[in-house]
Amino acid sequence: MAEKKILIAPSLLSADFLHLADQIRLVEESGADWLHLDVMDGHFVPNLSIGPAVVAACQRMTRLPLDIHLMVMEPEPLLEAFAKAGADHLTVHVEASHQISDTLERIHKLGVKAGITLKPATPVSSLTAHLPYVDGVLVMSVDPGFSGQTFLPGAVERISEVRLALDNLKSNAWLAVDGGVNATSAALARAAGANVFISGSGIFQDPKGIPAALQTLRTALA
Ligand code: DX5
Ligand code: ZN
Repeated sequence: MAEKKILIAPSLLSADFLHLADQIRLVEESGADWLHLDVMDGHFVPNLSIGPAVVAACQRMTRLPLDIHLMVMEPEPLLEAFAKAGADHLTVHVEASHQISDTLERIHKLGVKAGITLKPATPVSSLTAHLPYVDGVLVMSVDPGFSGQTFLPGAVERISEVRLALDNLKSNAWLAVDGGVNATSAALARAAGANVFISGSGIFQDPKGIPAALQTLRTALA
């Protein structure tokens, strides 16, 4: 398979929520490829975050593709609202519904790219039936719910497994990693076959500042 473009997606969950517009502008100017937005329902994960109103506000002020990670039980009733708010990608958890194939189809009908993801404890084989139908796969490298956690090393092997399955299908889907991504873990994930690197605290909380953090990550992935 031709090598896929390396993409960096800052995760807004770690940004300064009082200055979202400035923070988004800065990551965009510093060369981010996508903006990753985490949606949590306090049920699928033990935290709450943002909804369609914040996605719509972001959409009005950035040209970056909006990559929405839905950590929500039974996400189907919410899909249309996120599509209308300007989502470019909607990634759903395989554990979140018994009808995830229908959910992926619904996302496509809304004109949005569909991604699938899984928690670190969920077997990679749970994705197999869905892989031919997705535009992207996200391997979680922390238990979803919070920024600032440490990369789980087991994710590297899981990325390799998904990479192999996608290559066997001759799939063009992106392969993302999310959770504890920094220069070191990103390089490991890249070697295993990931091409999208989602990073929250590694970018927004780096004491060197956002532009330098993005540059460090870019260099580690070069
Ligand atoms: C965790 C979220 C991540 C999170 C990543 O549930 O899905 O996108 O913001 O943050 P870091 O990079 O700090 O682990
Ligand atoms: Zn995320």
